[in-house]
Formats: sequence, C-alpha cells, structure tokens
Amino acid sequence: MTTRLPRPRENVVRNASELIGATPLLELVRTGSGTRLLLKLEGFNPTGSAKVRMAREMVLQAEREGHLRPGGHIVEPTSGNTGTGLALLALERGYAFTAVVDDHAAEDKLRAMKAMGARLVRVAGDDTGGPSTVERRRVAAEIAERTGAFRPDQHNNPHNNAGYRELAGELLSDLHTDVDYLVGAVGTGGSLCGTVEELRRLGSGVSAIGVEPVGSIIFGGAGGPYWQTGAGSPAGFPVGGNVKYEAIDESCRVGDREAFATARVVARRTGILVGGTAGAAVFAALGRLVHLPAGATVVVLVCDAGEKYLDTVYDEEWLVARGLYDEAAQRRIGRLFAAYDESLRLAEFDSARTGS
Ligand SMILES: Cc1ncc(COP(=O)(O)O)c(C=O)c1O
Repeated sequence: MTTRLPRPRENVVRNASELIGATPLLELVRTGSGTRLLLKLEGFNPTGSAKVRMAREMVLQAEREGHLRPGGHIVEPTSGNTGTGLALLALERGYAFTAVVDDHAAEDKLRAMKAMGARLVRVAGDDTGGPSTVERRRVAAEIAERTGAFRPDQHNNPHNNAGYRELAGELLSDLHTDVDYLVGAVGTGGSLCGTVEELRRLGSGVSAIGVEPVGSIIFGGAGGPYWQTGAGSPAGFPVGGNVKYEAIDESCRVGDREAFATARVVARRTGILVGGTAGAAVFAALGRLVHLPAGATVVVLVCDAGEKYLDTVYDEEWLVARGLYDEAAQRRIGRLFAAYDESLRLAEFDSARTGS
C-alpha cells in the first residue's frame, strides 16, 4: 500500500492584497570601503507602490473601529498611489471609492484607479503647475460631509505610519546587518517615519534622512512649483501629524532635474525603472555615501516603479518642454557611480594582492 505524503500548502493567494510586502532589496552601489546603497523596491507591491501597505492598514482599522460598514464609501484626496491602494482594498472588500485628484497626478495612476472601479473627481491644478493639495482636500471633506463617506485622512491618520511596520521587519530579516541609514521621500511622512520608528523599536540604531522636492515646504524652505508627484507639500498646505520631525535626523531638498536625471541613470544601470521621488532619494543618498563610515548600509525607500512615469520622467520630449531635461546632471551622476565602482575595483585588487 502506498502512503500519501502530506503535501505542502499550495503557493496560491486568493486576494491581490495578500501579495503586499516581502518586496526585494537591490544593491545599487557597493564602494571600496564596503558601504552599500540598497534599494527597497516597493514597486513590487500590488498597485506598484508602497502606499498600498498603509491603505490596507487604514481600511482594516476603520473596519475595526466601525467607521466602515458593508457597502460603505471611502473618499480621499490623492496624487495617485494612495488612491490605487485604496481602490484595491475597496474592490476586494466591497466599498465604493472616490478619489479626489488634480492634473498634477501621473495619468497612468488615474487610469489604474478607474480600471479598478474607482470614481475620480478632478479639481483644477494650480497655475504654477504645482499640486492643488489644499483644494483636493477641501473637495474630499465636502464629499465626506455630504455623503457620510469615510475619509481616511492619510496626513493625520496614525494607521498610515503603522502600515509600514512590516516593512521594517522585512529589512531586518533580509539583512545580516543593521540598517544604518534609511533615506526616503516625504509626503505624508508615513513611509519614512513609520518604518524608522518601527526599526528603532526593534533595536535598530538607524538614522533617517528625509527628502522633499525643492519648492516643498515640509522642512522649512521657500515654496515653489515642482513636478515630483507624491512627495512634498506645496506652500499653504498644513503639514500633517504623520511627519514626525523628531524621528528624522536630517532633511534635504532635491530639485526635479536632479531627481529625474538620477531615475534615468538608475534605469540605464540596473534595468529597473524607479519613480521620480525615488530618483530624488537616490540622489541624496549617492552624494552622502563617500562621507559615511566604512561598511555602512544605506537603504533607499523606492516608493514606486517608473512604469507610471513613461510619459513624464522617462519621456525626453516632456522633460525638454518643461526645462527639466538635464544631460549634464545625468553625466555627473554617471561619473559618481563610476567613481564608486572604481573604488570597489581598487579595493578588490588590493585585497587580492595582499591576500587579505
Ligand atoms: C511616488 C511617491 N513618492 C513618495 C511618497 C511619499 O510617501 P509618504 O506619503 O509615505 O511620505 C508618495 C506618497 O504618496 C508617493 O506617491
């Protein structure tokens, strides 16, 4: 008689949201001193962005607290990635979802939300080409008031930040070392602050570096237009409670030209297309690598993938028309990568020669 061996559970999920998390780490740079710059590729999440982590957490918490009941309605102003995350959770759990958006959003994110059954309410962009964050928020509040819809309020909802606890755990379990520096673009603050606070709770000595577009006012600079979408806050927008200033050790601003040039160089180097805000975060990290202690591990949160920006960041004509195409910056960034590569080659040559 043959005995049937127990078969392992099939590796199949029943809902796309079960695919959230366990995103890969890609080594972008290793220097001669053993310092590494790693990319946490959040574009590998369903909906192609980190924000689906917090969309899930905010929706589940709203259900626990009774703010969302069967057949309910969610409304939220969004630049797109929160919206695609909420659209996914809404369709899986049987809610209607209304996204309040403006022209600043990447068109592909809007198309994706519509494909998932979301209703879009468009408000006019502001004249400078910047996001109309204040107006989006006003319209979403008005819809919530009128219809009784649940408005997650990602800028102040603590379950935004809590949605990144798993991400922190993934980093520590995937690495044999601590995360010494975590670099991320800041919009609501949830991804950087939520991850860093959980890393520290788990015993990490991580330093956090927050990056915003030049023209954003989160860290106190002058307001102005910018084309990076998702990160930053325009002048006049009150920074929400999820930017935990006390958790961020250092902040910096990166212009659109450098951000987009970096994303394009990263695409040529790795074949992975990252979004424009990730380009800014990589730019900030690249410049710092040379100054860091030997052997440091730097992780950049790549909030989303570049396939959403083929018509913008990766379209030369679009960039040229807006004065954002910067070949000289691309060359400078390319030289920086080459210098780090050369430092590694020399260190390897040295250790082969001395047998160490
Ligand atoms: C492309 C992109 N980068 C960065 C961010 C900023 O993330 P957070 O809101 O967690 O600060 C967002 C947020 O929507 C985003 O869509």
